[in-house]
Amino acid sequence: MSRITRRSWAEPYKIKMVEPLLRTTRSHRAKAMADAGYNTFLLHSDDVYIDLLTDSGTSAMSDNQWAGMMLGDEAYSGSRNFYHLEENVRQYYGYKYLIPTHQGRGAEHLLSRILIRPGMFVPGNMYFTTTRLHQELAGGTFVDVIIDEAHDPASLHPFKGNVDLGKLEDLIRRVGPDKIPYVSVAATVNMAGGQPVSMENMREVRSLCDRHGLKIYLDATRAIENAWLIKCREEGFAHRSVADILRELCSLTDGCTMSGKKDLLVNIGGFLALNDPAVFEEARSLVVVYEGMHTYGGLAGRDMEAMARGLVEAVQDDHIAARVGQVEYLGNRLLEYDIPIVRPIGGHAIFLDARGFYPHLEQDLFPAQTLAAEIYLDSGIRSMERGIVSAGRDEKTGQHRYPRLELVRLTIPRRVYTQAHLDVTVESVVTVFDERHKVKGLHMTFEPKYLRFFQSRFAPVSG
Ligand code: F0G
Repeated sequence: MSRITRRSWAEPYKIKMVEPLLRTTRSHRAKAMADAGYNTFLLHSDDVYIDLLTDSGTSAMSDNQWAGMMLGDEAYSGSRNFYHLEENVRQYYGYKYLIPTHQGRGAEHLLSRILIRPGMFVPGNMYFTTTRLHQELAGGTFVDVIIDEAHDPASLHPFKGNVDLGKLEDLIRRVGPDKIPYVSVAATVNMAGGQPVSMENMREVRSLCDRHGLKIYLDATRAIENAWLIKCREEGFAHRSVADILRELCSLTDGCTMSGKKDLLVNIGGFLALNDPAVFEEARSLVVVYEGMHTYGGLAGRDMEAMARGLVEAVQDDHIAARVGQVEYLGNRLLEYDIPIVRPIGGHAIFLDARGFYPHLEQDLFPAQTLAAEIYLDSGIRSMERGIVSAGRDEKTGQHRYPRLELVRLTIPRRVYTQAHLDVTVESVVTVFDERHKVKGLHMTFEPKYLRFFQSRFAPVSG
């Protein structure tokens, strides 16, 4: 009998090319953080050691994707790489029509402009920053219809991304289906902690929408991770492939906006994909105004080729098992030290609960912004605020929105860091947690007009 009772997973790749990382001193970081106005978005990446700001555009491409870059067909129109991407999107997501865009928000812009009219309401399973802003700029009002558990970092609900059918039905009854251009469903839900929607929930949303003649548009940015979490958590899916689950998930919707910079393992790119020929016709006409010809949408041919190839790699079960496995490894190690994190562990990141770190800080003192700065000061690891700063101001009252979730995201780029980098991260977060009582918070010294978390500046509260 072997003494080994279980077998580990390992990354289904080996490393062919490396990029050096530089360690810095605490005094260097103190200056860099002050120069950046205590906003991790404003740091120079040269001053960062391990960069967990985002998983967006930060993936390592494969040798096969790089080979595809050399096969870029840079024709102004009708590039062969567009047709390759179109074929793969049809195969794996199942939508008929494809409009490439420079990234996800380009697709959100087109969809919002085409379908939303002033005075309309757009229900969604929690807001995402750019998605909601495009809905608002088109005259719509976003209405959160996610289940209550999503707003509770401690709830262990396995599908905290689920739509609350009662809330959705209530909105339909209150404003009428004519005032709802579509239901906006994200899979997974970034701001809730990378939490998935279940297939069962999607089927129910579909049948509710069918009863009222409503369309559903998916934010498919991390839908492959969602498909994996369905496979792991939902009864009846363990033996199905991720590709198969993804296809079924998409079949319950009318189209999607996509940031290829996440699931699809590329540094730039996105698309709008859909089944409705009339919406497609409008999008095809509008994309020319804002992005570029409908066969490149702001992308080089080589970028479309890298995305077409990345898609095939992204839906492989062993890839996604290792990708989400790394996130789980980091989360489980933090839990060994009783660090407050959003649970269950989601698909792309660990979300630290800044309220659990700094219960003595009012939300006006920006606890999550403070925590992200403290982690950087300790180790040079960069993370992202996902709390009151990200939530922005209420359009009508101009006051801060006070989200229940006050989080810091440690986002894992795909295929980039090793387990040792994650161990270093755990040590830094635990150190910052153990020194939590000393921290006094930040105040805001500059606030830009749109998506303020990107560029706002802060200074430490003294005294
Ligand atoms: N939808 C979701 C769920 C996202 O996470 C993002 C981007 C977008 C849409 C917009 O896509 O950046 O390609 O324009 N999220 C990044 C992040 C910025 O760090 O989570 P984009």
